[in-house]
Amino acid sequence: MADVYTSREDEKTIEDILSRGLQVKAPKWTVMRLALAHSLRIPSPPDEALDRVKEKGSEYKLEQVTGQGQGRSSVGQQDYTDAIRGLLNVYTREDLFADDKAFRTHLQRHIRRGLREFRRGWRDGHDFYQFLYQELCAGQEQEYEAEETDFGVRLIVALGEIGVRGEVTESQDGPRITRYLVRLEDPNHLDLVRRGLDKIAFALGLQKHGVFPVETGQPKVIGLDVPRPRNTWKTLSGQNLLEWARTPHEGVSLPLWPGVDVTGTPVTFDLARQPHLLVGGTTGSGKSICLHALILSLLTGVQRERLKLFLIDPKKVEFAPYAKIGSKRITVMTDVDVAQEKLAELVEEMETRTTALEKVGVRDLAEGHRKGLLNIPYIVVFVEELADLVQQVPQAEEHLIRLAQKARATGIHLVIATQRPDARTLNGLLRSNIPSRIALTVQKSTESKIILDETGAERLTGAGDMLIRLSGEPLKRVHGVYVTDDDIAAVIRSEGGR
Ligand SMILES: Nc1ncnc2c1ncn2[C@@H]1O[C@H](COP(=O)(O)OP(=O)(O)OP(=O)(O)O)[C@@H](O)[C@H]1O
Ligand SMILES: [Mg+2]
Repeated sequence: MADVYTSREDEKTIEDILSRGLQVKAPKWTVMRLALAHSLRIPSPPDEALDRVKEKGSEYKLEQVTGQGQGRSSVGQQDYTDAIRGLLNVYTREDLFADDKAFRTHLQRHIRRGLREFRRGWRDGHDFYQFLYQELCAGQEQEYEAEETDFGVRLIVALGEIGVRGEVTESQDGPRITRYLVRLEDPNHLDLVRRGLDKIAFALGLQKHGVFPVETGQPKVIGLDVPRPRNTWKTLSGQNLLEWARTPHEGVSLPLWPGVDVTGTPVTFDLARQPHLLVGGTTGSGKSICLHALILSLLTGVQRERLKLFLIDPKKVEFAPYAKIGSKRITVMTDVDVAQEKLAELVEEMETRTTALEKVGVRDLAEGHRKGLLNIPYIVVFVEELADLVQQVPQAEEHLIRLAQKARATGIHLVIATQRPDARTLNGLLRSNIPSRIALTVQKSTESKIILDETGAERLTGAGDMLIRLSGEPLKRVHGVYVTDDDIAAVIRSEGGR
């Protein structure tokens, strides 16, 4: 009997990584062990569904995967079984030395999860070594601390080069960014700093990633948010989100937890008040993961009992984990015609609800709920890629506009994502009726302007780094949580598939 099974998809990933990623002749278990290492870095436990392999790819013995029974003398292979068992022991907090079967189960789960994350995160054609370094070596702070004092000095030198004199009075480390508080010798230098941000970033070797100024409220002191090297970042996991979601929130109907601010404090806002959201960002900037974080916020939020989600996914992959598990409250639509019909129905539903609200004499659904006069659910529609939807079925756009204009009070909300924030994809009327915006990293400042009405998103650091504009609030920078398919599975299962 084999010890570890892979799926056909896993085998393809292994082959792709060997041929186009590592680009050296190596055995398959090299990739499997890298996948294991990658999975062990993710705090959320891998989903049990990984135990079942639908389309079988290959089978492996522990001799191959962990080198069991292979002596030091044998060429190229060593026995790492105990080391790996020990690592899995720590991760699972189970005694896997006493339970061989459980050891193999967890080993397979982690290898398969790691391979799945490779598929998601590594884009063919990109440098696999670079990707791996970032994934496996992120969060090694000690290395960074040694350099930190240096960096404050470098910042002052960089400021000096644009004619600004000042001193660093304090620095605060957030998950990805260090905020330096700089007291300017001459307040007239403030303009020089604001205009010279690109030059400062250039002098510090930050490439496209920018330095962002922040107000501090202290006299003559400006805050400068400087991104750190990626191997010092702390990734926020889906587990963080679930913890925050457990904190009670008064007067909030649909709390969303996209991530933390620059200093690491969790950020939340109420979708019911916003009342619709546009999410834009270039490919690979973290839109889908951001949408997952918003969906999980709703599924664990205060109104989870009175909630219906319609997930429109023309790309057919992103929302698949929700469809796979199946919950009565979630409808996943991959067919654009079906989605268009659903949106038309929702426009009707909106009209019916408007009449119902008038009849019982309440302003909005929240008031109807509070007074016990209405017991109808909130409805949130997610569109994974607007461009794919409206190009194939232009009528869908009209429905979305109607909903964006009028659905607010009736408890129907939209979250619309696109990787093409341009005038062609985003109808002006739709855009102007979606007041709240999330911009992940974009390529051009013009795209940032379309999403946020100002530039800045082109200087973000990618991987879930975002700027959030909520109606009536100043722009906020947020680092997103990294939600995995395992988090999604855990949440839906814990709800008992309701
Ligand atoms: N919050 C996050 N923290 C850390 N890494 C992240 C985060 N969000 C995204 N990433 C990284 O970026 C990769 C791409 O994310 P995602 O698939 O969400 O991008 P996308 O914008 O939806 O891309 P596409 O337009 O191609 O669909 C992820 O696999 C992950 O490696
Ligand atoms: Mg995506």
